[in-house]
Amino acid sequence: RLWREDGPVVRVHFGDGVPRWLILGYEEGRAALADPRLCKDIDGLESVIARKYGGTWRPPSTHDGLRHMLNADPPAHTRLRKAVSRAFTPRRMEALRPVIEETARGLLDGMAGHEEVDLLRAYAAPLPIAVICHLLEVDIEDTFTFREWTKALVGTLEPGIDPARAHDEMVAFLRNTLRRKRLEPGEDMLSALLADDAALDEGELIGMALLLLIAGHETTVNLIGNGVLALLHHRAWLERLVADPALIPDAVEEFLRYDGPVNMATPRFTAAPITVGDTVIPEGELVLVALSGGNRDPRRFTDPSRFDPSVEHGQHLGFGHGIHYCVGAPLARLEGGIAFEALLQRFPNLELAVDESQLRWHPNAIIHGLKRLPVRLRE
Ligand code: HEM
Repeated sequence: RLWREDGPVVRVHFGDGVPRWLILGYEEGRAALADPRLCKDIDGLESVIARKYGGTWRPPSTHDGLRHMLNADPPAHTRLRKAVSRAFTPRRMEALRPVIEETARGLLDGMAGHEEVDLLRAYAAPLPIAVICHLLEVDIEDTFTFREWTKALVGTLEPGIDPARAHDEMVAFLRNTLRRKRLEPGEDMLSALLADDAALDEGELIGMALLLLIAGHETTVNLIGNGVLALLHHRAWLERLVADPALIPDAVEEFLRYDGPVNMATPRFTAAPITVGDTVIPEGELVLVALSGGNRDPRRFTDPSRFDPSVEHGQHLGFGHGIHYCVGAPLARLEGGIAFEALLQRFPNLELAVDESQLRWHPNAIIHGLKRLPVRLRE
């Protein structure tokens, strides 16, 4: 809101001395995300970053897992996206419903009997981990390791976690997993990608698996965490959703608009000058589209800082826009709907267990989520 006082497109410094263009307006953000001159190719992005840092910046030691479609432009992006879209079949999604329901029930059973829990650790994090591991049929028994890997990779870093180490460990794990699946293919999505005629090479398969594991996890955790917090702040809505679960899908859309898990879309660069609103952004610049800015743009949404699932909020930017629009959106919606319904039916008297002032957000530009969400359960 403060940045927007200077207009829907501003030039900002985040403390590392490198200027970035930040797009805060809804229409401007949508237009930019659909503009083919705003690119994501990782080599192009890294050369722009290196130039901006005046040669002091070094790319990460390994790229093994980073050659994925969120780091690619057409035609590579088109080919990779087609392959994964083919694997995200409605049948595969529907088959996940009982898995999600059963996992949620098991986690809630485990919480019962505790007066107080960290809802992120007990419920919001393990649920999407179990679901994405089931979808890809990867065997990450150790929830803690998975969470540390993904936290390191999305940059919600705690002291002592090294992103390069987490990346290398995850790539080595996925290499083994793919070797196993080549020998013994299953019904899962990775086996489907391996069998696909479009033949993704080894690096692309590892990148895709890594992207799905990360993109499908940290975001869904925070859809649940941020959504529950919104309900604790709006008790009347919590009670309405308990009484009428049919309202939950609308509430999920409103969580995504009001306090969505993705603050800014991942970084992009201009491959040619582009005009966004009244601003010309020259070639070779770093650009961030603030999805949360667009979602609270008063020119698009009436009273945007009010949480109200009953208002038709139209197309929020919570899943992005354009060719990189979230490929997992149907799964996220399915998972979110089941997670909220199961939680609210079991613990309708849920309340915050700490003073509001003790809640802390991860200091992360992209992912918007809490560090902990301590709640009292009272069945
Ligand atoms: C892309 C949000 C869940 C897989 C994106 C983007 C956003 C987003 C904003 C676009 C990023 C950009 O343009 O820079 C979310 C939210 C989720 C969620 C808010 C949960 C509430 C999932 C799930 C999966 C997934 C469950 C997979 C199982 C992906 C992939 C991309 C993506 C693969 C890249 C698409 C491409 O490059 O074409 N997501 N996501 N996401 N998401 Fe999600």
